[in-house]
Parts: sequence; structure tokens; C-alpha cells
Amino acid sequence: MKEFENKTAVVTGAANGIGLELAKVFAERGMHVVLADIEQDKLVEAVDTVTELGAEAIGVVTDVGSDSSVAALCKASVDRFGSVQVLCNNAGVYTGGLLWEQTVDDYEWLMRVNQWGVIHGLRHFVPQMIAQGDECNIVNTASMASLCTLPFAGIYHMTKHAVLSLSECLFHELAMTAPQISVSCLCPELVNTGIATSARNRPADLAEQNVTDMQKMSMTAITDATAGSLPPRVLAERVLQGIKDNTFYLLPPGDNPWRDTAHSRLEDIRLVRNPTFAPPAI
Ligand SMILES: NC(=O)c1ccc[n+]([C@@H]2O[C@H](COP(=O)([O-])OP(=O)(O)OC[C@H]3O[C@@H](n4cnc5c(N)ncnc54)[C@H](O)[C@@H]3O)[C@@H](O)[C@H]2O)c1
Repeated sequence: MKEFENKTAVVTGAANGIGLELAKVFAERGMHVVLADIEQDKLVEAVDTVTELGAEAIGVVTDVGSDSSVAALCKASVDRFGSVQVLCNNAGVYTGGLLWEQTVDDYEWLMRVNQWGVIHGLRHFVPQMIAQGDECNIVNTASMASLCTLPFAGIYHMTKHAVLSLSECLFHELAMTAPQISVSCLCPELVNTGIATSARNRPADLAEQNVTDMQKMSMTAITDATAGSLPPRVLAERVLQGIKDNTFYLLPPGDNPWRDTAHSRLEDIRLVRNPTFAPPAI
């Protein structure tokens, strides 16, 4: 997609972090923006920020883990702006720890937001985009965690692998059936956002986080690693360029240490070698 003016973008997880920056860059390109998030107060602030940039914007309180909530988001977007050309399935949450110490509810939470969020998004918005018949883009936020496997964050890695494989399959299916719809998969490295405090949005129907020593260690590590890391604006610009160029894999550019870790994993598979422990040298 080369022209953004007066088209409509829907961004989930838009109240903070990468999602908010995505909403801002779309607004700056003259798009109408639908901001969706579970955090109502931050969503109101985010809509104000985007509106101040001159865009027409609405906020829709959405739980991406709920099929009916994402259906309502799709309807609200089309009711307000008539059509949707860009969908960013971006909302996501993080927790860490040892796989056997984490609870069923820990698994349920990450799968619900990170996996089902993308599934609900594509199930509701792809038919809408196909019906429109115009040029559209879907950007699913995965992670470099979908291209490598590291200890103490296994549930997150698993859910992000699901986002990447789902996106690749979606890419093939749309290329064969509705080639006017492009797909990109955003695989960020560490970004300076609120991801380490994801538990603020843990659903009420799930038990409190299982706080073990390894869970604490993992959360301290992600807090330290994301603080002062890449500004989310850089990711938003990367997405914009990816949409313009129709690029599927939106990866850190150049000789990034996360790419080295991903290459090591791919090499393990190519050589049928046991998994190498090769964390990014950051
Ligand atoms: N920050 C990083 O280092 C990093 C790296 C790789 C990938 N990512 C991915 O980037 C995406 C954005 O995360 P971020 O880093 O901006 O973190 P963030 O916590 O700043 O933003 C995530 C947003 O998702 C929202 N959210 C959480 N649960 C939700 C739900 N059920 N329904 C709707 N919204 C919900 C939050 O309220 C928040 O606004 C996530 O998918 C994350 O996994 C982040």
C-alpha cells in the first residue's frame, strides 16, 4: 500500500507502547484510526493524543481474547469509517518462569491474548476486507521470540511462534485467494514499553500470577532488558515502511544480535543438531 490518506487503520493494544506509536504514525499519514485496548483510561488519553495530530480517531474498549469483543470492534470500525484497510493485531502480554512451575492460568492468559487475539482479529477482519475488495494490510505483532527459543520465557515463545506460523499460513492463503490483502509479521527485538508490567491486565477470571523464584528472576530480567531499549517509534516507522514495501518479515535490520540467535536456531534445525543455547549478545 502506497497511499494512506483517508484510509482506516485498526490497532489493538493501542493505548500504550508499540500500538500507540503505530496509531500515531498512521494518524500522521492522514489515516482514520481505531484504537482498541483493554485499558480504558489509557485508551481515552491515547485517542486524545492521536486526535491532536489531526486524525479522526475513535477508541473501542476491547478484550482481544474475546471473540464477541473483537466482533464488536470490527463492527464499530466499519460503522464509523465505512471500511478498514490496515489491521494491526498488536496487543500482547508477557510472563516468564519455568514451564512446569507456571500454572494452567498462566498458559491460558498468554494463549488467550497473544494467540487468540490474532485469531479473533483475522477471523473478523479478513472477511470484511475481502468483501471490500480493496488493497489492505494485516500486520501481526509476533516477536524475535517467535524465531528463537530461550529458557524461562517458554509460554511467551510458544505463543509468539504461533503468531508467526499463523501469519505465514495466512500470507499463503491470501496470496492464493485474495492477493489484494497483504500480510506482515512484526518481530521486534527489545522495545522500551510497558510489556514487563503486563500483569496489570491479567483477566479477573484467572488466578493471580504464580510468583516463583524463577518467575521473579525472569520478570526482573525483562524489566531491566526493556528499560532504555529501542523506542517504540522505531518499530512504528518499520511497520509503515513494511506496509509500503509489502514486506512480510519485519525484523531488526542488519547485524542485530537477535538475528544471530535466530540463525543459530535455524542452523540447529538444518543440521539436525540439538538446540544451541545462544542468547543474543546484548
Ligand atoms: N516490548 C518488547 O520488548 C516487545 C518485543 C517483542 C514483541 N513485543 C510485542 O509487542 C506488542 C505490544 O506490546 P508492547 O511492548 O507495546 O507492550 P505494552 O504493555 O506497552 O502494550 C501492550 C498493550 O496491549 C494491551 N492489552 C493487554 N491485554 C489486552 C487484551 N486482552 N485486549 C486488548 N488489549 C490488551 C495493554 O493494555 C497495552 O496497551 C505485544 O504483542 C508484545 O508481545 C514487545
